[in-house]
Amino acid sequence: MDKRIYKINKLLTDYSLGRFDGRLELSENLDDIDAFINGVNMLGEELKDTTISRDYFFNILNSVSDMVFVCDRHGRIEEINQAGCTQLECVKDAIIGSHLDDLQDQAQPSLWQSLYLPLKSGKESVLLDNMLFTHTGKRIPVHMYACYLTNDQKKKSAILVTAKDITLQIESENMLLRAIIDTQEKERQRLAQDLHDSLGQQISAIKFYISATADTIEDQNNKEILVKSNEALVKVLADMRNICFNLMPKTLEEFGLLKAIDELCNQPAYAGKISFHIASSPQFPALKQYIEIDIFRVVQEFVNNALQHGGATRIWMKFHHFKSHVRIVLKDNGKGFHYSEERVFPGRGLQNAQSRIKSHNGELKIKSIPGNGTEYQLAIPIIH
Ligand SMILES: Nc1ncnc2c1ncn2[C@@H]1O[C@H](COP(=O)(O)OP(=O)(O)O)[C@@H](O)[C@H]1O
Ligand SMILES: [Mg+2]
Repeated sequence: MDKRIYKINKLLTDYSLGRFDGRLELSENLDDIDAFINGVNMLGEELKDTTISRDYFFNILNSVSDMVFVCDRHGRIEEINQAGCTQLECVKDAIIGSHLDDLQDQAQPSLWQSLYLPLKSGKESVLLDNMLFTHTGKRIPVHMYACYLTNDQKKKSAILVTAKDITLQIESENMLLRAIIDTQEKERQRLAQDLHDSLGQQISAIKFYISATADTIEDQNNKEILVKSNEALVKVLADMRNICFNLMPKTLEEFGLLKAIDELCNQPAYAGKISFHIASSPQFPALKQYIEIDIFRVVQEFVNNALQHGGATRIWMKFHHFKSHVRIVLKDNGKGFHYSEERVFPGRGLQNAQSRIKSHNGELKIKSIPGNGTEYQLAIPIIH
């Protein structure tokens, strides 16, 4: 047999082992075997080029610090980079072939659908924030991006998904919000205390003088004026107590959240306008005071909005207690409104309520549709 056949055979074996540098020289005959050798040499060049570009691609992929996934059209993960494996605390083989939705909370609507459907209907790219779960169950808040990958023929072949861990960003945003809220609360506390201790004491003193004088006065006209003044002052004091309560409920400090909510619902301003239906798990726990103040503020906002905007006549509040968190559901029978997280409202009430709950790593879901009332669902982890 022609010796060149052996050489070709050896060269192809090298290629199959990933060694693409070998080439064979053509003989002087330039016969059929030389034509074959020429083809094999060209194959070697081609294999070398593709391997270099493939290695180049994987080097880039693995040097990106965000998680990068390549998914097929059904959401199956075909490729993942090193950062993805490290952050999801999982080896590559265990992730390849699994579904993108396997990385999220199973109770949530499909993450894959939220990314893929807009692309399918013509959007160039999709951005969204989500929560991913690592192999050991750790939660990672991420900023996600998805777009189509196109092949050489410009055909959309797969979907590229990236996920950036935003834990630190969220923590610093929360710290900033917390600082703003705390300053606001301190200012309210100072104002409530000043009102109560200074104005309140002085009005009480005036009231005492007036009623003492009224008792001694003979003239009926003057007496009546003083009695009326006294009644007006009783009202001023009651109004001031309500203002102080709204600024900073003392009941909350002394007797806790549920008692303060009870007092809120029994405020004269709501009497005859709205009826409250409150239910709570037995032994609803005492939470840290700064968390209770925030929950109280959200309930206050809910009640005010229900009355002011919703024209509600009934409000239901449920306080549930679980091992790791508390869950509070507030509902009104008002006229409802179009709520969506993307919509920016002119007022700050809803936004502040969201910030307050987020700053405790909690979640506030607002559900409202016109004609169907409004519902807030709060979930806040319990810190021991
Ligand atoms: N319970 C509710 N029923 C009907 N509409 C509501 C309710 N809560 C909020 N809204 C609507 O959402 C808007 C934003 O509310 P909010 O952020 O509390 O601001 P503000 O109360 O200062 O207007 C309101 O102006 C109102 O249109
Ligand atoms: Mg409001």
